[in-house]
Amino acid sequence: MQTDLQTNFLGKTLATPLVLASGVLGNNKAILERVHDNGCGLPTMKSIGPAPRDGHKNPTVIDLGGGMINAVGLPTPGYLNMEAEWAELSDRGFPINASIYGGSVEEFVRVAEFVSAKGPDFIELNISCPNSDQHGMIFGVNADSSKAVVSAVKKVIDVPLIAKLTPAAPDIGAIACACEEGGADAICAINTAGPGMVIDIESRMPVLDFKKGGLSGPMIRPIAVRCVYDIYKSVSIPIIGLGGITTGADAVEIIMAGASLVGIGTAVRYRGITVFNQINKELEAWLTDHNTTIEEIRGAAHGENPTIVENRRAK
Ligand SMILES: Cc1cc2nc3c(=O)[nH]c(=O)nc-3n(C[C@H](O)[C@H](O)[C@H](O)COP(=O)(O)O)c2cc1C
Repeated sequence: MQTDLQTNFLGKTLATPLVLASGVLGNNKAILERVHDNGCGLPTMKSIGPAPRDGHKNPTVIDLGGGMINAVGLPTPGYLNMEAEWAELSDRGFPINASIYGGSVEEFVRVAEFVSAKGPDFIELNISCPNSDQHGMIFGVNADSSKAVVSAVKKVIDVPLIAKLTPAAPDIGAIACACEEGGADAICAINTAGPGMVIDIESRMPVLDFKKGGLSGPMIRPIAVRCVYDIYKSVSIPIIGLGGITTGADAVEIIMAGASLVGIGTAVRYRGITVFNQINKELEAWLTDHNTTIEEIRGAAHGENPTIVENRRAK
């Protein structure tokens, strides 16, 4: 069977269902364009914050073999200091997903309104950062704060809104549901897992300067698959599934959990910038071998359970 990876996502045509995960390659037009030219349907920018921030001290990223641990600490020039990047990106031939974060609902709204006016195709809310309105708790572990930030941002932007969730939430389906009720057009899951820690046994000290960090890469894939599975049961909006996806078979697996698009982050480090075209080829080969399409396998792991379908549609 002839397959075609071209995908419609929230009214936009993407050349492929693959998404570059936020933060892995920065915000420079040349690199985002290169990723797109190498088979990524939707490059996501590094999260943009409300004020200049250096992030944590080195070491910030450690390769653990089966994945990475990082405590980069959301470095950002701040939304008001990116004129050169926006000027370059205004003249682009590819879609972009602009990721933003804030420490309060008001900060999220301020950054979102400004960034929306710069013309990205989508805005992604990184609600995996500490919420200063609620004493440093992470926005995305609480349904009320997730819904509050999504609904406030939704009012000030005119592009589709994607809420990016953390696997630290005890019930990620409930958070996704709250985001959908708040007006999110799609869910992206997952951000890094953990936090984890690695100790150097000779110096007897944590290796990361920040001590704790988020896990990414193949070691977190089963967590990502479970989260996408739970979210698919809870919402009717599309899901960008990511977390450890490294091969075409991994992409098939997360689509079967319910993902519409597939995010690639740490795999760029393991397979290089051409990882997107490699995964596209592997995915197409698998679909051809099994005489099927992405639409046919999406959510297949849920079986034909009518209760699930009913629950989703009832929302
Ligand atoms: C070095 C590094 C920096 C990251 N920076 C961001 C970021 O700025 N914003 C964000 O939403 N996620 C960020 N992430 C999380 C990724 O976008 C992704 O959700 C996570 O790594 C899981 O996907 P993966 O296993 O394919 O890497 C970062 C991940 C890494 C490894």
